[in-house]
Amino acid sequence: MDFPLEMSCLTAGEGLVTEEAQPAGNPLIILGDRISATRHLTAFVKDLKQENSLLDPGEQVKYAICGDSSEVATTLKKYADDVKMVLIGPGLGGNGVTVARMLATKAHIVMIIDPRVNPLGDDPATYAQVQANLEELNVILSLTKDADEAFFQPLIKEYVISGMAAGTDLESMSPEERAKMIDKRLDAVNAFPSLPDTQRKVAALDDLDPPKKWAEAIDDDLPTKTVILRILNSARYGFRSRVETIDQAVALASARTIREIVTACQISQIFSKTSEGTIDQFWKHSLAVANFAKLLCLPADPAAQDSQQKTELERFQLDEDQVAVMQDVKLWEKIELGEEDDPFTSGLLHDIGKVTMLMCLEDSLELVMALIEQEVQEAQAENKMWAHQVVDIERFLMKDIDHQVIGTRLADKWEVAPSIQQVIANHHQVAEHAPHIVKLAALADIAGNCLFPYPATDTQHPFPILFDRIDKAMKKSTKQGAEALDEIISEEIFEDLVDVLNRLDLPNHLWELVDFKSFFKLVYVLAPKIKSATIGFLQQTA
Ligand SMILES: [Fe+2]
Ligand SMILES: [Fe+2]
Repeated sequence: MDFPLEMSCLTAGEGLVTEEAQPAGNPLIILGDRISATRHLTAFVKDLKQENSLLDPGEQVKYAICGDSSEVATTLKKYADDVKMVLIGPGLGGNGVTVARMLATKAHIVMIIDPRVNPLGDDPATYAQVQANLEELNVILSLTKDADEAFFQPLIKEYVISGMAAGTDLESMSPEERAKMIDKRLDAVNAFPSLPDTQRKVAALDDLDPPKKWAEAIDDDLPTKTVILRILNSARYGFRSRVETIDQAVALASARTIREIVTACQISQIFSKTSEGTIDQFWKHSLAVANFAKLLCLPADPAAQDSQQKTELERFQLDEDQVAVMQDVKLWEKIELGEEDDPFTSGLLHDIGKVTMLMCLEDSLELVMALIEQEVQEAQAENKMWAHQVVDIERFLMKDIDHQVIGTRLADKWEVAPSIQQVIANHHQVAEHAPHIVKLAALADIAGNCLFPYPATDTQHPFPILFDRIDKAMKKSTKQGAEALDEIISEEIFEDLVDVLNRLDLPNHLWELVDFKSFFKLVYVLAPKIKSATIGFLQQTA
């Protein structure tokens, strides 16, 4: 937060919230703007002072000044229920429109537009579209020239002092209204990305369709075709002769494998268009979860494998110790999947809502990341590891909306298979009787977070930190292999692991499929192979 030191009208101390003077339940307005003696800020503060002069100190309205959108988010988090209004001015650093659309059901949003500084769009058509979209979300818009005392006074009275509730509650809406509302909040200028043609054609094919039909669906899409052939000709697949055509590829590698590669290529092509620097981290996370989902349910016992499972397991190039741990835990026996379930694609797409946020609500993940960092620092100050579900942080900001809800909207538009839709919608709130594919994806997500978390980084997320501690302890241990690992998980990191799992509030019935100690042992042992499969794939699709 920033303090308006030399301002004649905005003097520190009068209504201003500083780090030292936190309000005790006083209503709070977040002022997202650069402080200067602009007409609208002068009018705003004058109105506020006048209203406050009629109130007891305990009821007086305070305001907090935030220079950029991340600061708006962290201040909102800090003063949660007290915030009644967010005033977005032309001086706010970051994307004001995103802040408005994200927070629209959280607080009353008033946005002051200076056409020269923060226009709603570059051209009149975009401007009108964004304006209409924001108005539908009940965001109050005003040009700087109109934002005078008469403009602010009723807003402060209604929104802040009489405490009129902001926005609508998604929970109480019908599914149609709910979907419409979510679209409104996501769909201004950047519409949902559309499903690429090749992906649509391949989704319509049956695994038993002749290779010729597969070739017809893919051949015209040269980038995807190139990647498929490049991947199949890599050492991992170990075919004796070069794979030159899609017909051959389907015949040699199975339709399912081709389907997986196509999906991965198509999704990565869509999202490579976002300029965000963290897309690589997202992609590593998704691939790791996809690979874990696939591997964790493969039978490692030759007697239990069919020929396809045998080939798929071989592609992970596991060593004896890794197979032994898989055989020990026998997770494949406990996970019952349906015919239609596709673990790899489910894993690949489970967090698709996060990139949709990147594409439709630019900067939105930055706000989530700012809150993660704030929580990490708070946890560190208490000498603890950070452990909080990212969905909770998203819901805090966007009220009722998280990346599962957003991902489900996209999956719905793309007509993704129902079982994958269930994964996208519920992987963070797995019901006791949820289909096993959802439970498998939730477990694979936990596993994926041990290697490549997102959007928390590996220095913030507790699982990679715990894995690091296992690494160090393994080097010091006098025991070997699985025996050493058992001891470290059961003793050295046990308390912290339990503490983290409790604070993450993961559903207990996940551990009915596999007890958590065996699970983390399995994940730790398999991690190097998942890592190399993920990085290998990333390099071949680049
Ligand atoms: Fe997720
Ligand atoms: Fe995830």
